[in-house]
Amino acid sequence: MSERQHNLIVPSHIACVMDGNGRWAKERGLKRTDGHLEGEEALHRVVQAANDLGVEWLTVYAFSTENWKRPPSEVAFLMKLVDESVLLKRRDELHEKNVRVKVIGRRDWRVPRKVLKRIDETVELTKDNTGMTLTIAFNYGSQAELVDAVRKIIDSGVQASDVDEKRISANLYDAAIPDVDLWIRTSGEYRLSNFMTWQASYAEMVFLDTYWPDMDKGQLEDAIEEFSRRHRRFGGL
Ligand code: IPE
Ligand code: IPE
Ligand code: MG
Repeated sequence: MSERQHNLIVPSHIACVMDGNGRWAKERGLKRTDGHLEGEEALHRVVQAANDLGVEWLTVYAFSTENWKRPPSEVAFLMKLVDESVLLKRRDELHEKNVRVKVIGRRDWRVPRKVLKRIDETVELTKDNTGMTLTIAFNYGSQAELVDAVRKIIDSGVQASDVDEKRISANLYDAAIPDVDLWIRTSGEYRLSNFMTWQASYAEMVFLDTYWPDMDKGQLEDAIEEFSRRHRRFGGL
């Protein structure tokens, strides 16, 4: 362990908005999709780094419920990238590293069946792994997640007076995923963009100027170092 790693307080749950692929590509005179390809490599690096650092939960924003507004060709590219690279190409290695993969988001008609099948296979393959949990937020939005949770609660016939924070948490896409400790966004944007807003109610937020494709272990450690310096109070003293 390096001197630096020794001083880090490693958050249990890190959530990451992987932003800036398009701008990374534009700066290099490349296509936006080249930025996404490079972003997939960065995701792989960050997963390895988080696993090495002992992070228990890593949740990454791969496709938002609002990203359907992009041109169909870019949407199709992102669907294929998640299917063939993030899931198919990497899953054996993730499995070998004892990483458990989860996927949260809406399984609606817009997501190709092939992708849903690949999600199910990958989740099934890795479900008994006991190392880090990598959760891929895909066709995910916090507002949709809350709407879906409220629908489930109403359908279950629970009385309004029995609805509390615990009940809502228990009806999110995956009740086992804990609240977020460290919420990171790359690319110099200071927005939530509908990512884990319920779970990040008391998260420490770190905004990095780096475009996502340039993200590496050192930058992740920078964010964790910043987290280590924060004093969390949770409303107390
Ligand atoms: C993030 O990069 C990746 C996804 C949203 C899938 P962007 O594609 O948003 O890149 P910028 O923000 O346009 O640079
Ligand atoms: C958030 O980034 C979504 C993902 C990283 C998957 P966006 O680039 O879509 O967010 P906005 O449009 O800048 O808010
Ligand atoms: Mg963006």
